[in-house]
Amino acid sequence: GKGEYDHYMKKEIHNQPTALSNTIEGRVEDGEVSLEALPEGSFTDVDAVQLVACGTSYHAAIYGAQLLKSAGVRTEVIRASEYDSVAGPVDENTLTIAVTQSGETADTLGAVREAADRGARTLAVTNVVGSTVAREVDDAVYIRAGPEVGVAATKTFSSQAVTLTLVGQRIVADLDHAEQAEDVEAMLESLSDLPEQVEQILETTDAERLAKQYIDSQSFFFIGNGLGNPVALEGALKFKEITYEHAEGFASGQLKHGPLALVTEQTPVFAVCTGGDDGKTKTNAIEAQTRGAPIVAVSPDEHPVVDTADAHLSVPDTHPVWAGLLANVQLQLVSYYAADLLDRPIDKPRNLAKSVTVE
Ligand code: M6R
Repeated sequence: GKGEYDHYMKKEIHNQPTALSNTIEGRVEDGEVSLEALPEGSFTDVDAVQLVACGTSYHAAIYGAQLLKSAGVRTEVIRASEYDSVAGPVDENTLTIAVTQSGETADTLGAVREAADRGARTLAVTNVVGSTVAREVDDAVYIRAGPEVGVAATKTFSSQAVTLTLVGQRIVADLDHAEQAEDVEAMLESLSDLPEQVEQILETTDAERLAKQYIDSQSFFFIGNGLGNPVALEGALKFKEITYEHAEGFASGQLKHGPLALVTEQTPVFAVCTGGDDGKTKTNAIEAQTRGAPIVAVSPDEHPVVDTADAHLSVPDTHPVWAGLLANVQLQLVSYYAADLLDRPIDKPRNLAKSVTVE
């Protein structure tokens, strides 16, 4: 049941420290990633990676693909529903990763089946043992987030992004041509602090106050660059899904190519800064602020964007690879509290199903 919580969504947001501890458990040893089903050397033949997913899982896939891309591994992230028309060439050295919480999403199953037909090797990153995807692919890695009841995916985004980053590092470590990040050890070490840092956010968040402050706005924008980009997209998806208010997520640099026309004092802009490549987020946030928009920085306390922002949601200091996940928890809370203020049926938004088994 929901226990002490009013909604499953809130319970699941608060369950993230435990979920993440389970996700990580036993998977980092002596500065290396170890994945039970996929020992060292499992990926030596891979020369390209495709990730296929929908919705929140698609955002987690963009997040998790970043490490592969920066290591120079050929990587594409594809919306599963578009696989047939947009996927690049595939052969037996292509690894197609289906990212799906439920393991039952028709679009994602369709894409991974098509990839297998074209000759790719397949891997599932899923939450559900025994799901259709897990049965059909060559290998499966479980995110171990525990059951998720709320239609809005929360803890599974966090566990997917971590699992995919670990899978990415396992692939990079197996490939001679891939560029190992200089600070792999620091990155893997800081992962063990993540559950506690999520806890810290849950205990100190200002999200409820901010939700109250901005609830009457016309539209809600979320911007981010680099790893902040999938977090901005996810922030907007969650917001529209459960509040029924208009929300959009953009790559920071794209604001001035059109969406800026919508910006007024009625469009708060959440600027997601992860401590990585954030210059564009700050400059574009300032452009929006000049047009009257309130800026909410979602960033570490010491980040330069905080000086210009009208409000701040704090992200504990961590390695830039994980900071976006913490920012995302703050945005989950903003959506939750906004939807609660509007008295929406948070766990079962209208027109949506937990798993979408039609194409
Ligand atoms: O089970 P899956 O991860 O394959 O589901 C994919 C999407 O349908 C899902 O993430 C959806 O976008 C969520 N309701 C978002 O909160």
